[in-house]
Amino acid sequence: MNILNFGSLNIDLVYQVEHIAQPGETISSLAHQVFAGGKGANQSAALARAGASVFHAGQVGPDGQWLVDKLAGLGVNVQHIRIGDVPTGHAIIQVDHHGQNSIVLFAGANAQIDRGAIDAALSHFDRGDILLLQNEINDISYIITSATERGLTICLNPAPFDPEVRAYPLELVDLLIVNETEAAGLAGASDPAALASLCPRAQIVLTLGAAGAQYHSPTEEFHIPASQVEAVDTTGAGDTFIGYFLQGLTADMAARDAMARAVKAAALCVTRPGAMDSIPAADEID
Ligand code: ATP
Ligand code: RIB
Repeated sequence: MNILNFGSLNIDLVYQVEHIAQPGETISSLAHQVFAGGKGANQSAALARAGASVFHAGQVGPDGQWLVDKLAGLGVNVQHIRIGDVPTGHAIIQVDHHGQNSIVLFAGANAQIDRGAIDAALSHFDRGDILLLQNEINDISYIITSATERGLTICLNPAPFDPEVRAYPLELVDLLIVNETEAAGLAGASDPAALASLCPRAQIVLTLGAAGAQYHSPTEEFHIPASQVEAVDTTGAGDTFIGYFLQGLTADMAARDAMARAVKAAALCVTRPGAMDSIPAADEID
């Protein structure tokens, strides 16, 4: 069983601020750093740090080779990442004193993935393999449909949410992981049962920030509280959670155990600055 994560790679331009800029306001930042990020790349990094073997597929521009090298250094297989002419995607991230963030994305190369690249990557995977997707690349519906035809298990984290997500073939999804904003956008409420009506065959995980996470499947329902920590930067918490949770499931852990470990990993992530760099290693959790 192999895991293919088809997802974004971003350069994160992070600005430490007193408060998140309000509409019409200009503020000075207190500090600036450049980090590796992108929900896709972060989730591949988290899978690898948790102990999974993961293939990442996606696209960067000529300025993105360092992101590819960074993923490779973490043990992610990068043979399906293409380097094209369009600049790498980037994120402008403000982080305030409470660790809260506000993010503006520029999709760049992430939105220029052609069907030839999708078909080529998927051709290496088969029944029993797992596909993980977020919502920062183009052609998600086509990827879900094609991967389903090949017999892959579909895991979807429709983040960031946009109304187009409602038109994705959600009935084909086997594992749906959403935060409260995504749940409300998809189902009108932070309610796993409402999400289950959209993805009837899926295991559903609703992440609740500092309140932990909730699991729902046709046979089981439970909540795991978050560990109490002082948040420095919550960027990447969801990605850390997803990488650890999915690695746990693929290592045959019970969903409850996988989620308890994911919650611990995500709590450690929020105590550190940055996205990919803040994902803890498995030995820190275990
Ligand atoms: P982000 O976009 O900030 O990466 P998200 O919005 O996708 O995250 P959240 O629900 O905010 O997802 O967080 C994911 C998980 O991270 C939560 O389920 C929780 O386990 C952990 N987490 C998030 N914030 C905190 C916090 N302040 N303290 C402890 N754990 C947290
Ligand atoms: O989930 C965190 C990520 O969201 C950041 O790394 C940023 O690139 C945005 O895509």
